[in-house]
Amino acid sequence: MGSGTTLVEAKLLGRNAVGIDINPQSVSISETNLQFQCETQSKIFTRKGNATDLNFIKDSRIDFICTHPPYANIIRYSKGIDGDISLLDVDSFLNEMYKVAKECYRVLKKGKMCAVMIGDVRKYGKVIPLGFRMMECFLQAGFMNKEIIIKEQHNCLSTDYWKEQNRNFLLLAHEYIFIFQK
Ligand SMILES: C[S@@+](CC[C@H](N)C(=O)[O-])C[C@H]1O[C@@H](n2cnc3c(N)ncnc32)[C@H](O)[C@@H]1O
Repeated sequence: MGSGTTLVEAKLLGRNAVGIDINPQSVSISETNLQFQCETQSKIFTRKGNATDLNFIKDSRIDFICTHPPYANIIRYSKGIDGDISLLDVDSFLNEMYKVAKECYRVLKKGKMCAVMIGDVRKYGKVIPLGFRMMECFLQAGFMNKEIIIKEQHNCLSTDYWKEQNRNFLLLAHEYIFIFQK
């Protein structure tokens, strides 16, 4: 859920939706952001939970999944919440994302889509292709690749800082939106 962007869009589109986040603060921010009137009718649920275990949803019930996980530990979303995958190094993060992918596959109806947004990371001067490594988790979980969308990134916090530096690398200025199909 993060701050609830996806749920806000679902509400505007009149789609029923359930949003999950491990961080109770995210749940309350999302609930605040959802307090607006609109012409469409929908049922929106928020829930504190771990995306690696969606046991409150039966198999093959969901029409569409839209998820935006942390980019490993590039931004830490909490100071130590158990299950928060933004606290994990790349390999542990990918282990957890494989569990997320399997749960996504289980709850989605056959033929339906799962959209995942993620970016690559740079550590110690090297690019770690986190996007493609995470894509493999979803393929191993059983999904097919329907689309790979490159999304340009604008106004990154660090861009101005790096522009001033005498650097010998390119700034990462894109993210991926993978569209997987069950
Ligand atoms: C990149 S943010 C999502 C931002 C969101 N797209 C928005 O517009 O606000 C990633 C979120 O994943 C959450 N998160 C981390 N580990 C999780 C887990 N195991 N299960 C569910 N959510 C988790 C974090 O608390 C954070 O809110």
